[in-house]
Amino acid sequence: MAATSRHDAWQAGDRYEAYMGRWSRQLAPRFLDFLGAEENLDWLEVGCGTGALSSAILARSNPRSLVAIDASEGFVAMARENLPDPRADFMVGDAQALSVESASRDVAASALTLNFVPDKKKALGEMTRATRPGGTVGFYVWDYPGGGMGLMRAFWTAAAALDPAARDLTEDKRFPFCTPDGLTALAKDAGLTKVDCVPVEMPTMFRDFDDYWHPFTLGAGPAPGYCVSLAPDARQRLKEKLSDSLPRQADGSIVLEARAWALKAKTA
Ligand SMILES: C[S@@+](CC[C@H](N)C(=O)[O-])C[C@H]1O[C@@H](n2cnc3c(N)ncnc32)[C@H](O)[C@@H]1O
Repeated sequence: MAATSRHDAWQAGDRYEAYMGRWSRQLAPRFLDFLGAEENLDWLEVGCGTGALSSAILARSNPRSLVAIDASEGFVAMARENLPDPRADFMVGDAQALSVESASRDVAASALTLNFVPDKKKALGEMTRATRPGGTVGFYVWDYPGGGMGLMRAFWTAAAALDPAARDLTEDKRFPFCTPDGLTALAKDAGLTKVDCVPVEMPTMFRDFDDYWHPFTLGAGPAPGYCVSLAPDARQRLKEKLSDSLPRQADGSIVLEARAWALKAKTA
């Protein structure tokens, strides 16, 4: 299964915020609690996007410096504008070939990104290379194979029921290594030691069905990219199928569980 898809649309930061940024911002502090890094360290962040984890690092970890890199010019511009912090340097770059000196960072972190990088081993190798001996490398990805990202699982279940071709686009098919065993093996392959992988969970709460549906119509990310590629009548059928299938609270709100796997390890 291809690691990248034409539906992986990472350009418009505000659209990404509406779809995923609002949840990744809530997940980031939970990851930092797990990472347990000290203050006053030099950080590297790979795949910073619009700055969800960057913002949490600056607010909670009191870094000496933060070099944050992402492939999307639009996302990097938004992160830079929203986080005008003298400790932070936002750069456009490729996770597989980082413009960062070897052994120059204390902590290398990455949020919801590794699965989208074509050569994830290379990316993790680059994070390891950039980190000083005895430093920390950590990342998190959604639990796609376990269906742990409820808002996506519900979307793709409905989509595949209407369009069998959608089955091949689902993240559980595309990213089967996003399990504790798969991620631990990846970290060990990169030469990392003391590998620890845990679930990080949170609820995703939507006011009503429109609050759930609207972000899919904005096209930012794999499921929204697929949604906007549909003809209007097919999109309407998908909307109705989803509306019929999603569980509602008494007040009409929708609550779905979100689970990520967070991993931390040490450089040798
Ligand atoms: C799901 S977003 C996560 C963004 C952010 N870390 C967050 O938690 O909201 C995935 C990010 O990976 C970035 N990305 C994908 N492939 C990349 C690569 N090869 N190098 C750097 N960034 C990449 C995308 O541009 C996008 O910002």
